[in-house]
Amino acid sequence: MQPLIETRGLSYRYPRQGEVLSHVDFSLFAGDRVALIGPNGAGKTTFLHLLVGLKKAKAGEVFAYGSVRKTEAQFVEVRAKSGFLFQDPDDQLFCPTVIEDVAFGPLNLGRSKEQAESLARKTLASLGMVGYEERVAHQLSGGEKRLVALASVLAMEPQVLLLDEPTNALDSRAQKRLLDVLMTLPQAMIIISHDDEFLADIATRYIRLDAARFSEADACFAKGIA
Ligand SMILES: Nc1ncnc2c1ncn2[C@@H]1O[C@H](COP(=O)(O)OP(=O)(O)O)[C@@H](O)[C@H]1O
Ligand SMILES: [Mg+2]
Repeated sequence: MQPLIETRGLSYRYPRQGEVLSHVDFSLFAGDRVALIGPNGAGKTTFLHLLVGLKKAKAGEVFAYGSVRKTEAQFVEVRAKSGFLFQDPDDQLFCPTVIEDVAFGPLNLGRSKEQAESLARKTLASLGMVGYEERVAHQLSGGEKRLVALASVLAMEPQVLLLDEPTNALDSRAQKRLLDVLMTLPQAMIIISHDDEFLADIATRYIRLDAARFSEADACFAKGIA
């Protein structure tokens, strides 16, 4: 089976710092729900950015959806197929209303206004968000915003989900709701999280990032360290 996303020898450093990622080999396969754990500042978010070309690797290669990806045009295609849920929903929601935010992605991918809106409504409904369409996104609660941001990602019908600390700032009810939603989704995903219990429910495998290196971990090892 060919991986959906693969890195070989991926390295990255910020100016005036040591390497945050050093020769990282990683594969994401269909059906994987990979927990990416590691201390604050380890480089987890940076890794997701590299996968979709929001940052450019200093060395190594990214393969995604069957091709090697180097140029900006190639990464535009990767971003269209990868649903990136940012750590802060406020970075993801920028339209006046919820429906506009959720329809934005499909519109951008070339859908007609009608198609995009219908897809947006359907996606919101699948997340239990009927009635939120005309609400003002920045007035919603943290949990509601997170679900709208997830809707805006899912409406693009991505092949892979990249979730950066999705349970951050959610109360336990909203966390449960998010977990239930994610468990019904067929997409392979990488989940950055420090939430042991959430990961224990959702992850099929664990990768730990520390000192710029990836290592396979297990749930017990993850506990307390994540
Ligand atoms: N734009 C940037 N410029 C310089 N250093 C950065 C930048 N973004 C992140 N860093 C640093 O790189 C390291 C990895 O950051 P990040 O990938 O956000 O870690 P994590 O998501 O694991 O907490 C941290 O030390 C962080 O301070
Ligand atoms: Mg981070």
